[in-house]
Amino acid sequence: MRFFVDTADVEAIAELNELGMADGVTTNPSLILKSGRDILEVTKEICSIVAGPVSAEVVAVEADDMIAEGRKLAKIADNIAVKVPLTWAGLKACKVLTGEGNMVNVTLCFSANQALLAAKAGATFISPFIGRLDDINMDGMDLIADIRQIYDNYGFDTQILAASIRSANHMSQAALIGADVATAPPNVIKAMANHPLTDKGLDGFLKDWAKTGQKIL
Ligand code: G3P
Repeated sequence: MRFFVDTADVEAIAELNELGMADGVTTNPSLILKSGRDILEVTKEICSIVAGPVSAEVVAVEADDMIAEGRKLAKIADNIAVKVPLTWAGLKACKVLTGEGNMVNVTLCFSANQALLAAKAGATFISPFIGRLDDINMDGMDLIADIRQIYDNYGFDTQILAASIRSANHMSQAALIGADVATAPPNVIKAMANHPLTDKGLDGFLKDWAKTGQKIL
């Protein structure tokens, strides 16, 4: 499973990229707001840091306007994936933008039917939002499993990009189900390294090591 970093924080992206943990980046209008930066500038900088796809989201609601915004965003760099919402207008924009050779990430997906439509419209990525389904007492992981089965049943090329990931458990569950990609905030990716038995074991080793009176360096 590839890891995308769900942030517009360039320092966090650079740190994860150096470790090979950033196969791509996803942004959205809320993350651009959080960064406090101009969308075109920060997206260009992100594209210069990571080699993989960098999702930049349109904000228009009509298909023609989404297409115009998508064309502008796609000019930022070769690794831009234009992000469009899963509306009927977004599906039209997806079809046109992918037809022009762009990567397209169809976002705000909350049902298997929506994912089926995105695949039919030629989406490069479909972004089902796990955490927001969990928030309303539905099971986001069930949606990932349903989409995996549907795409595999028919050999759709659209990649499942598990999004709205809130915990390290979400990452392993998405990987077990077979999501192609998971996008998560930097703190969630780092939290995957944590285990209380690792901390406890290390503490014990360090205490015993101190008793030996030895040094390695
Ligand atoms: O990848 C989509 C993500 O940015 C939304 O996450 O936590 O706001 O639901 P969240």
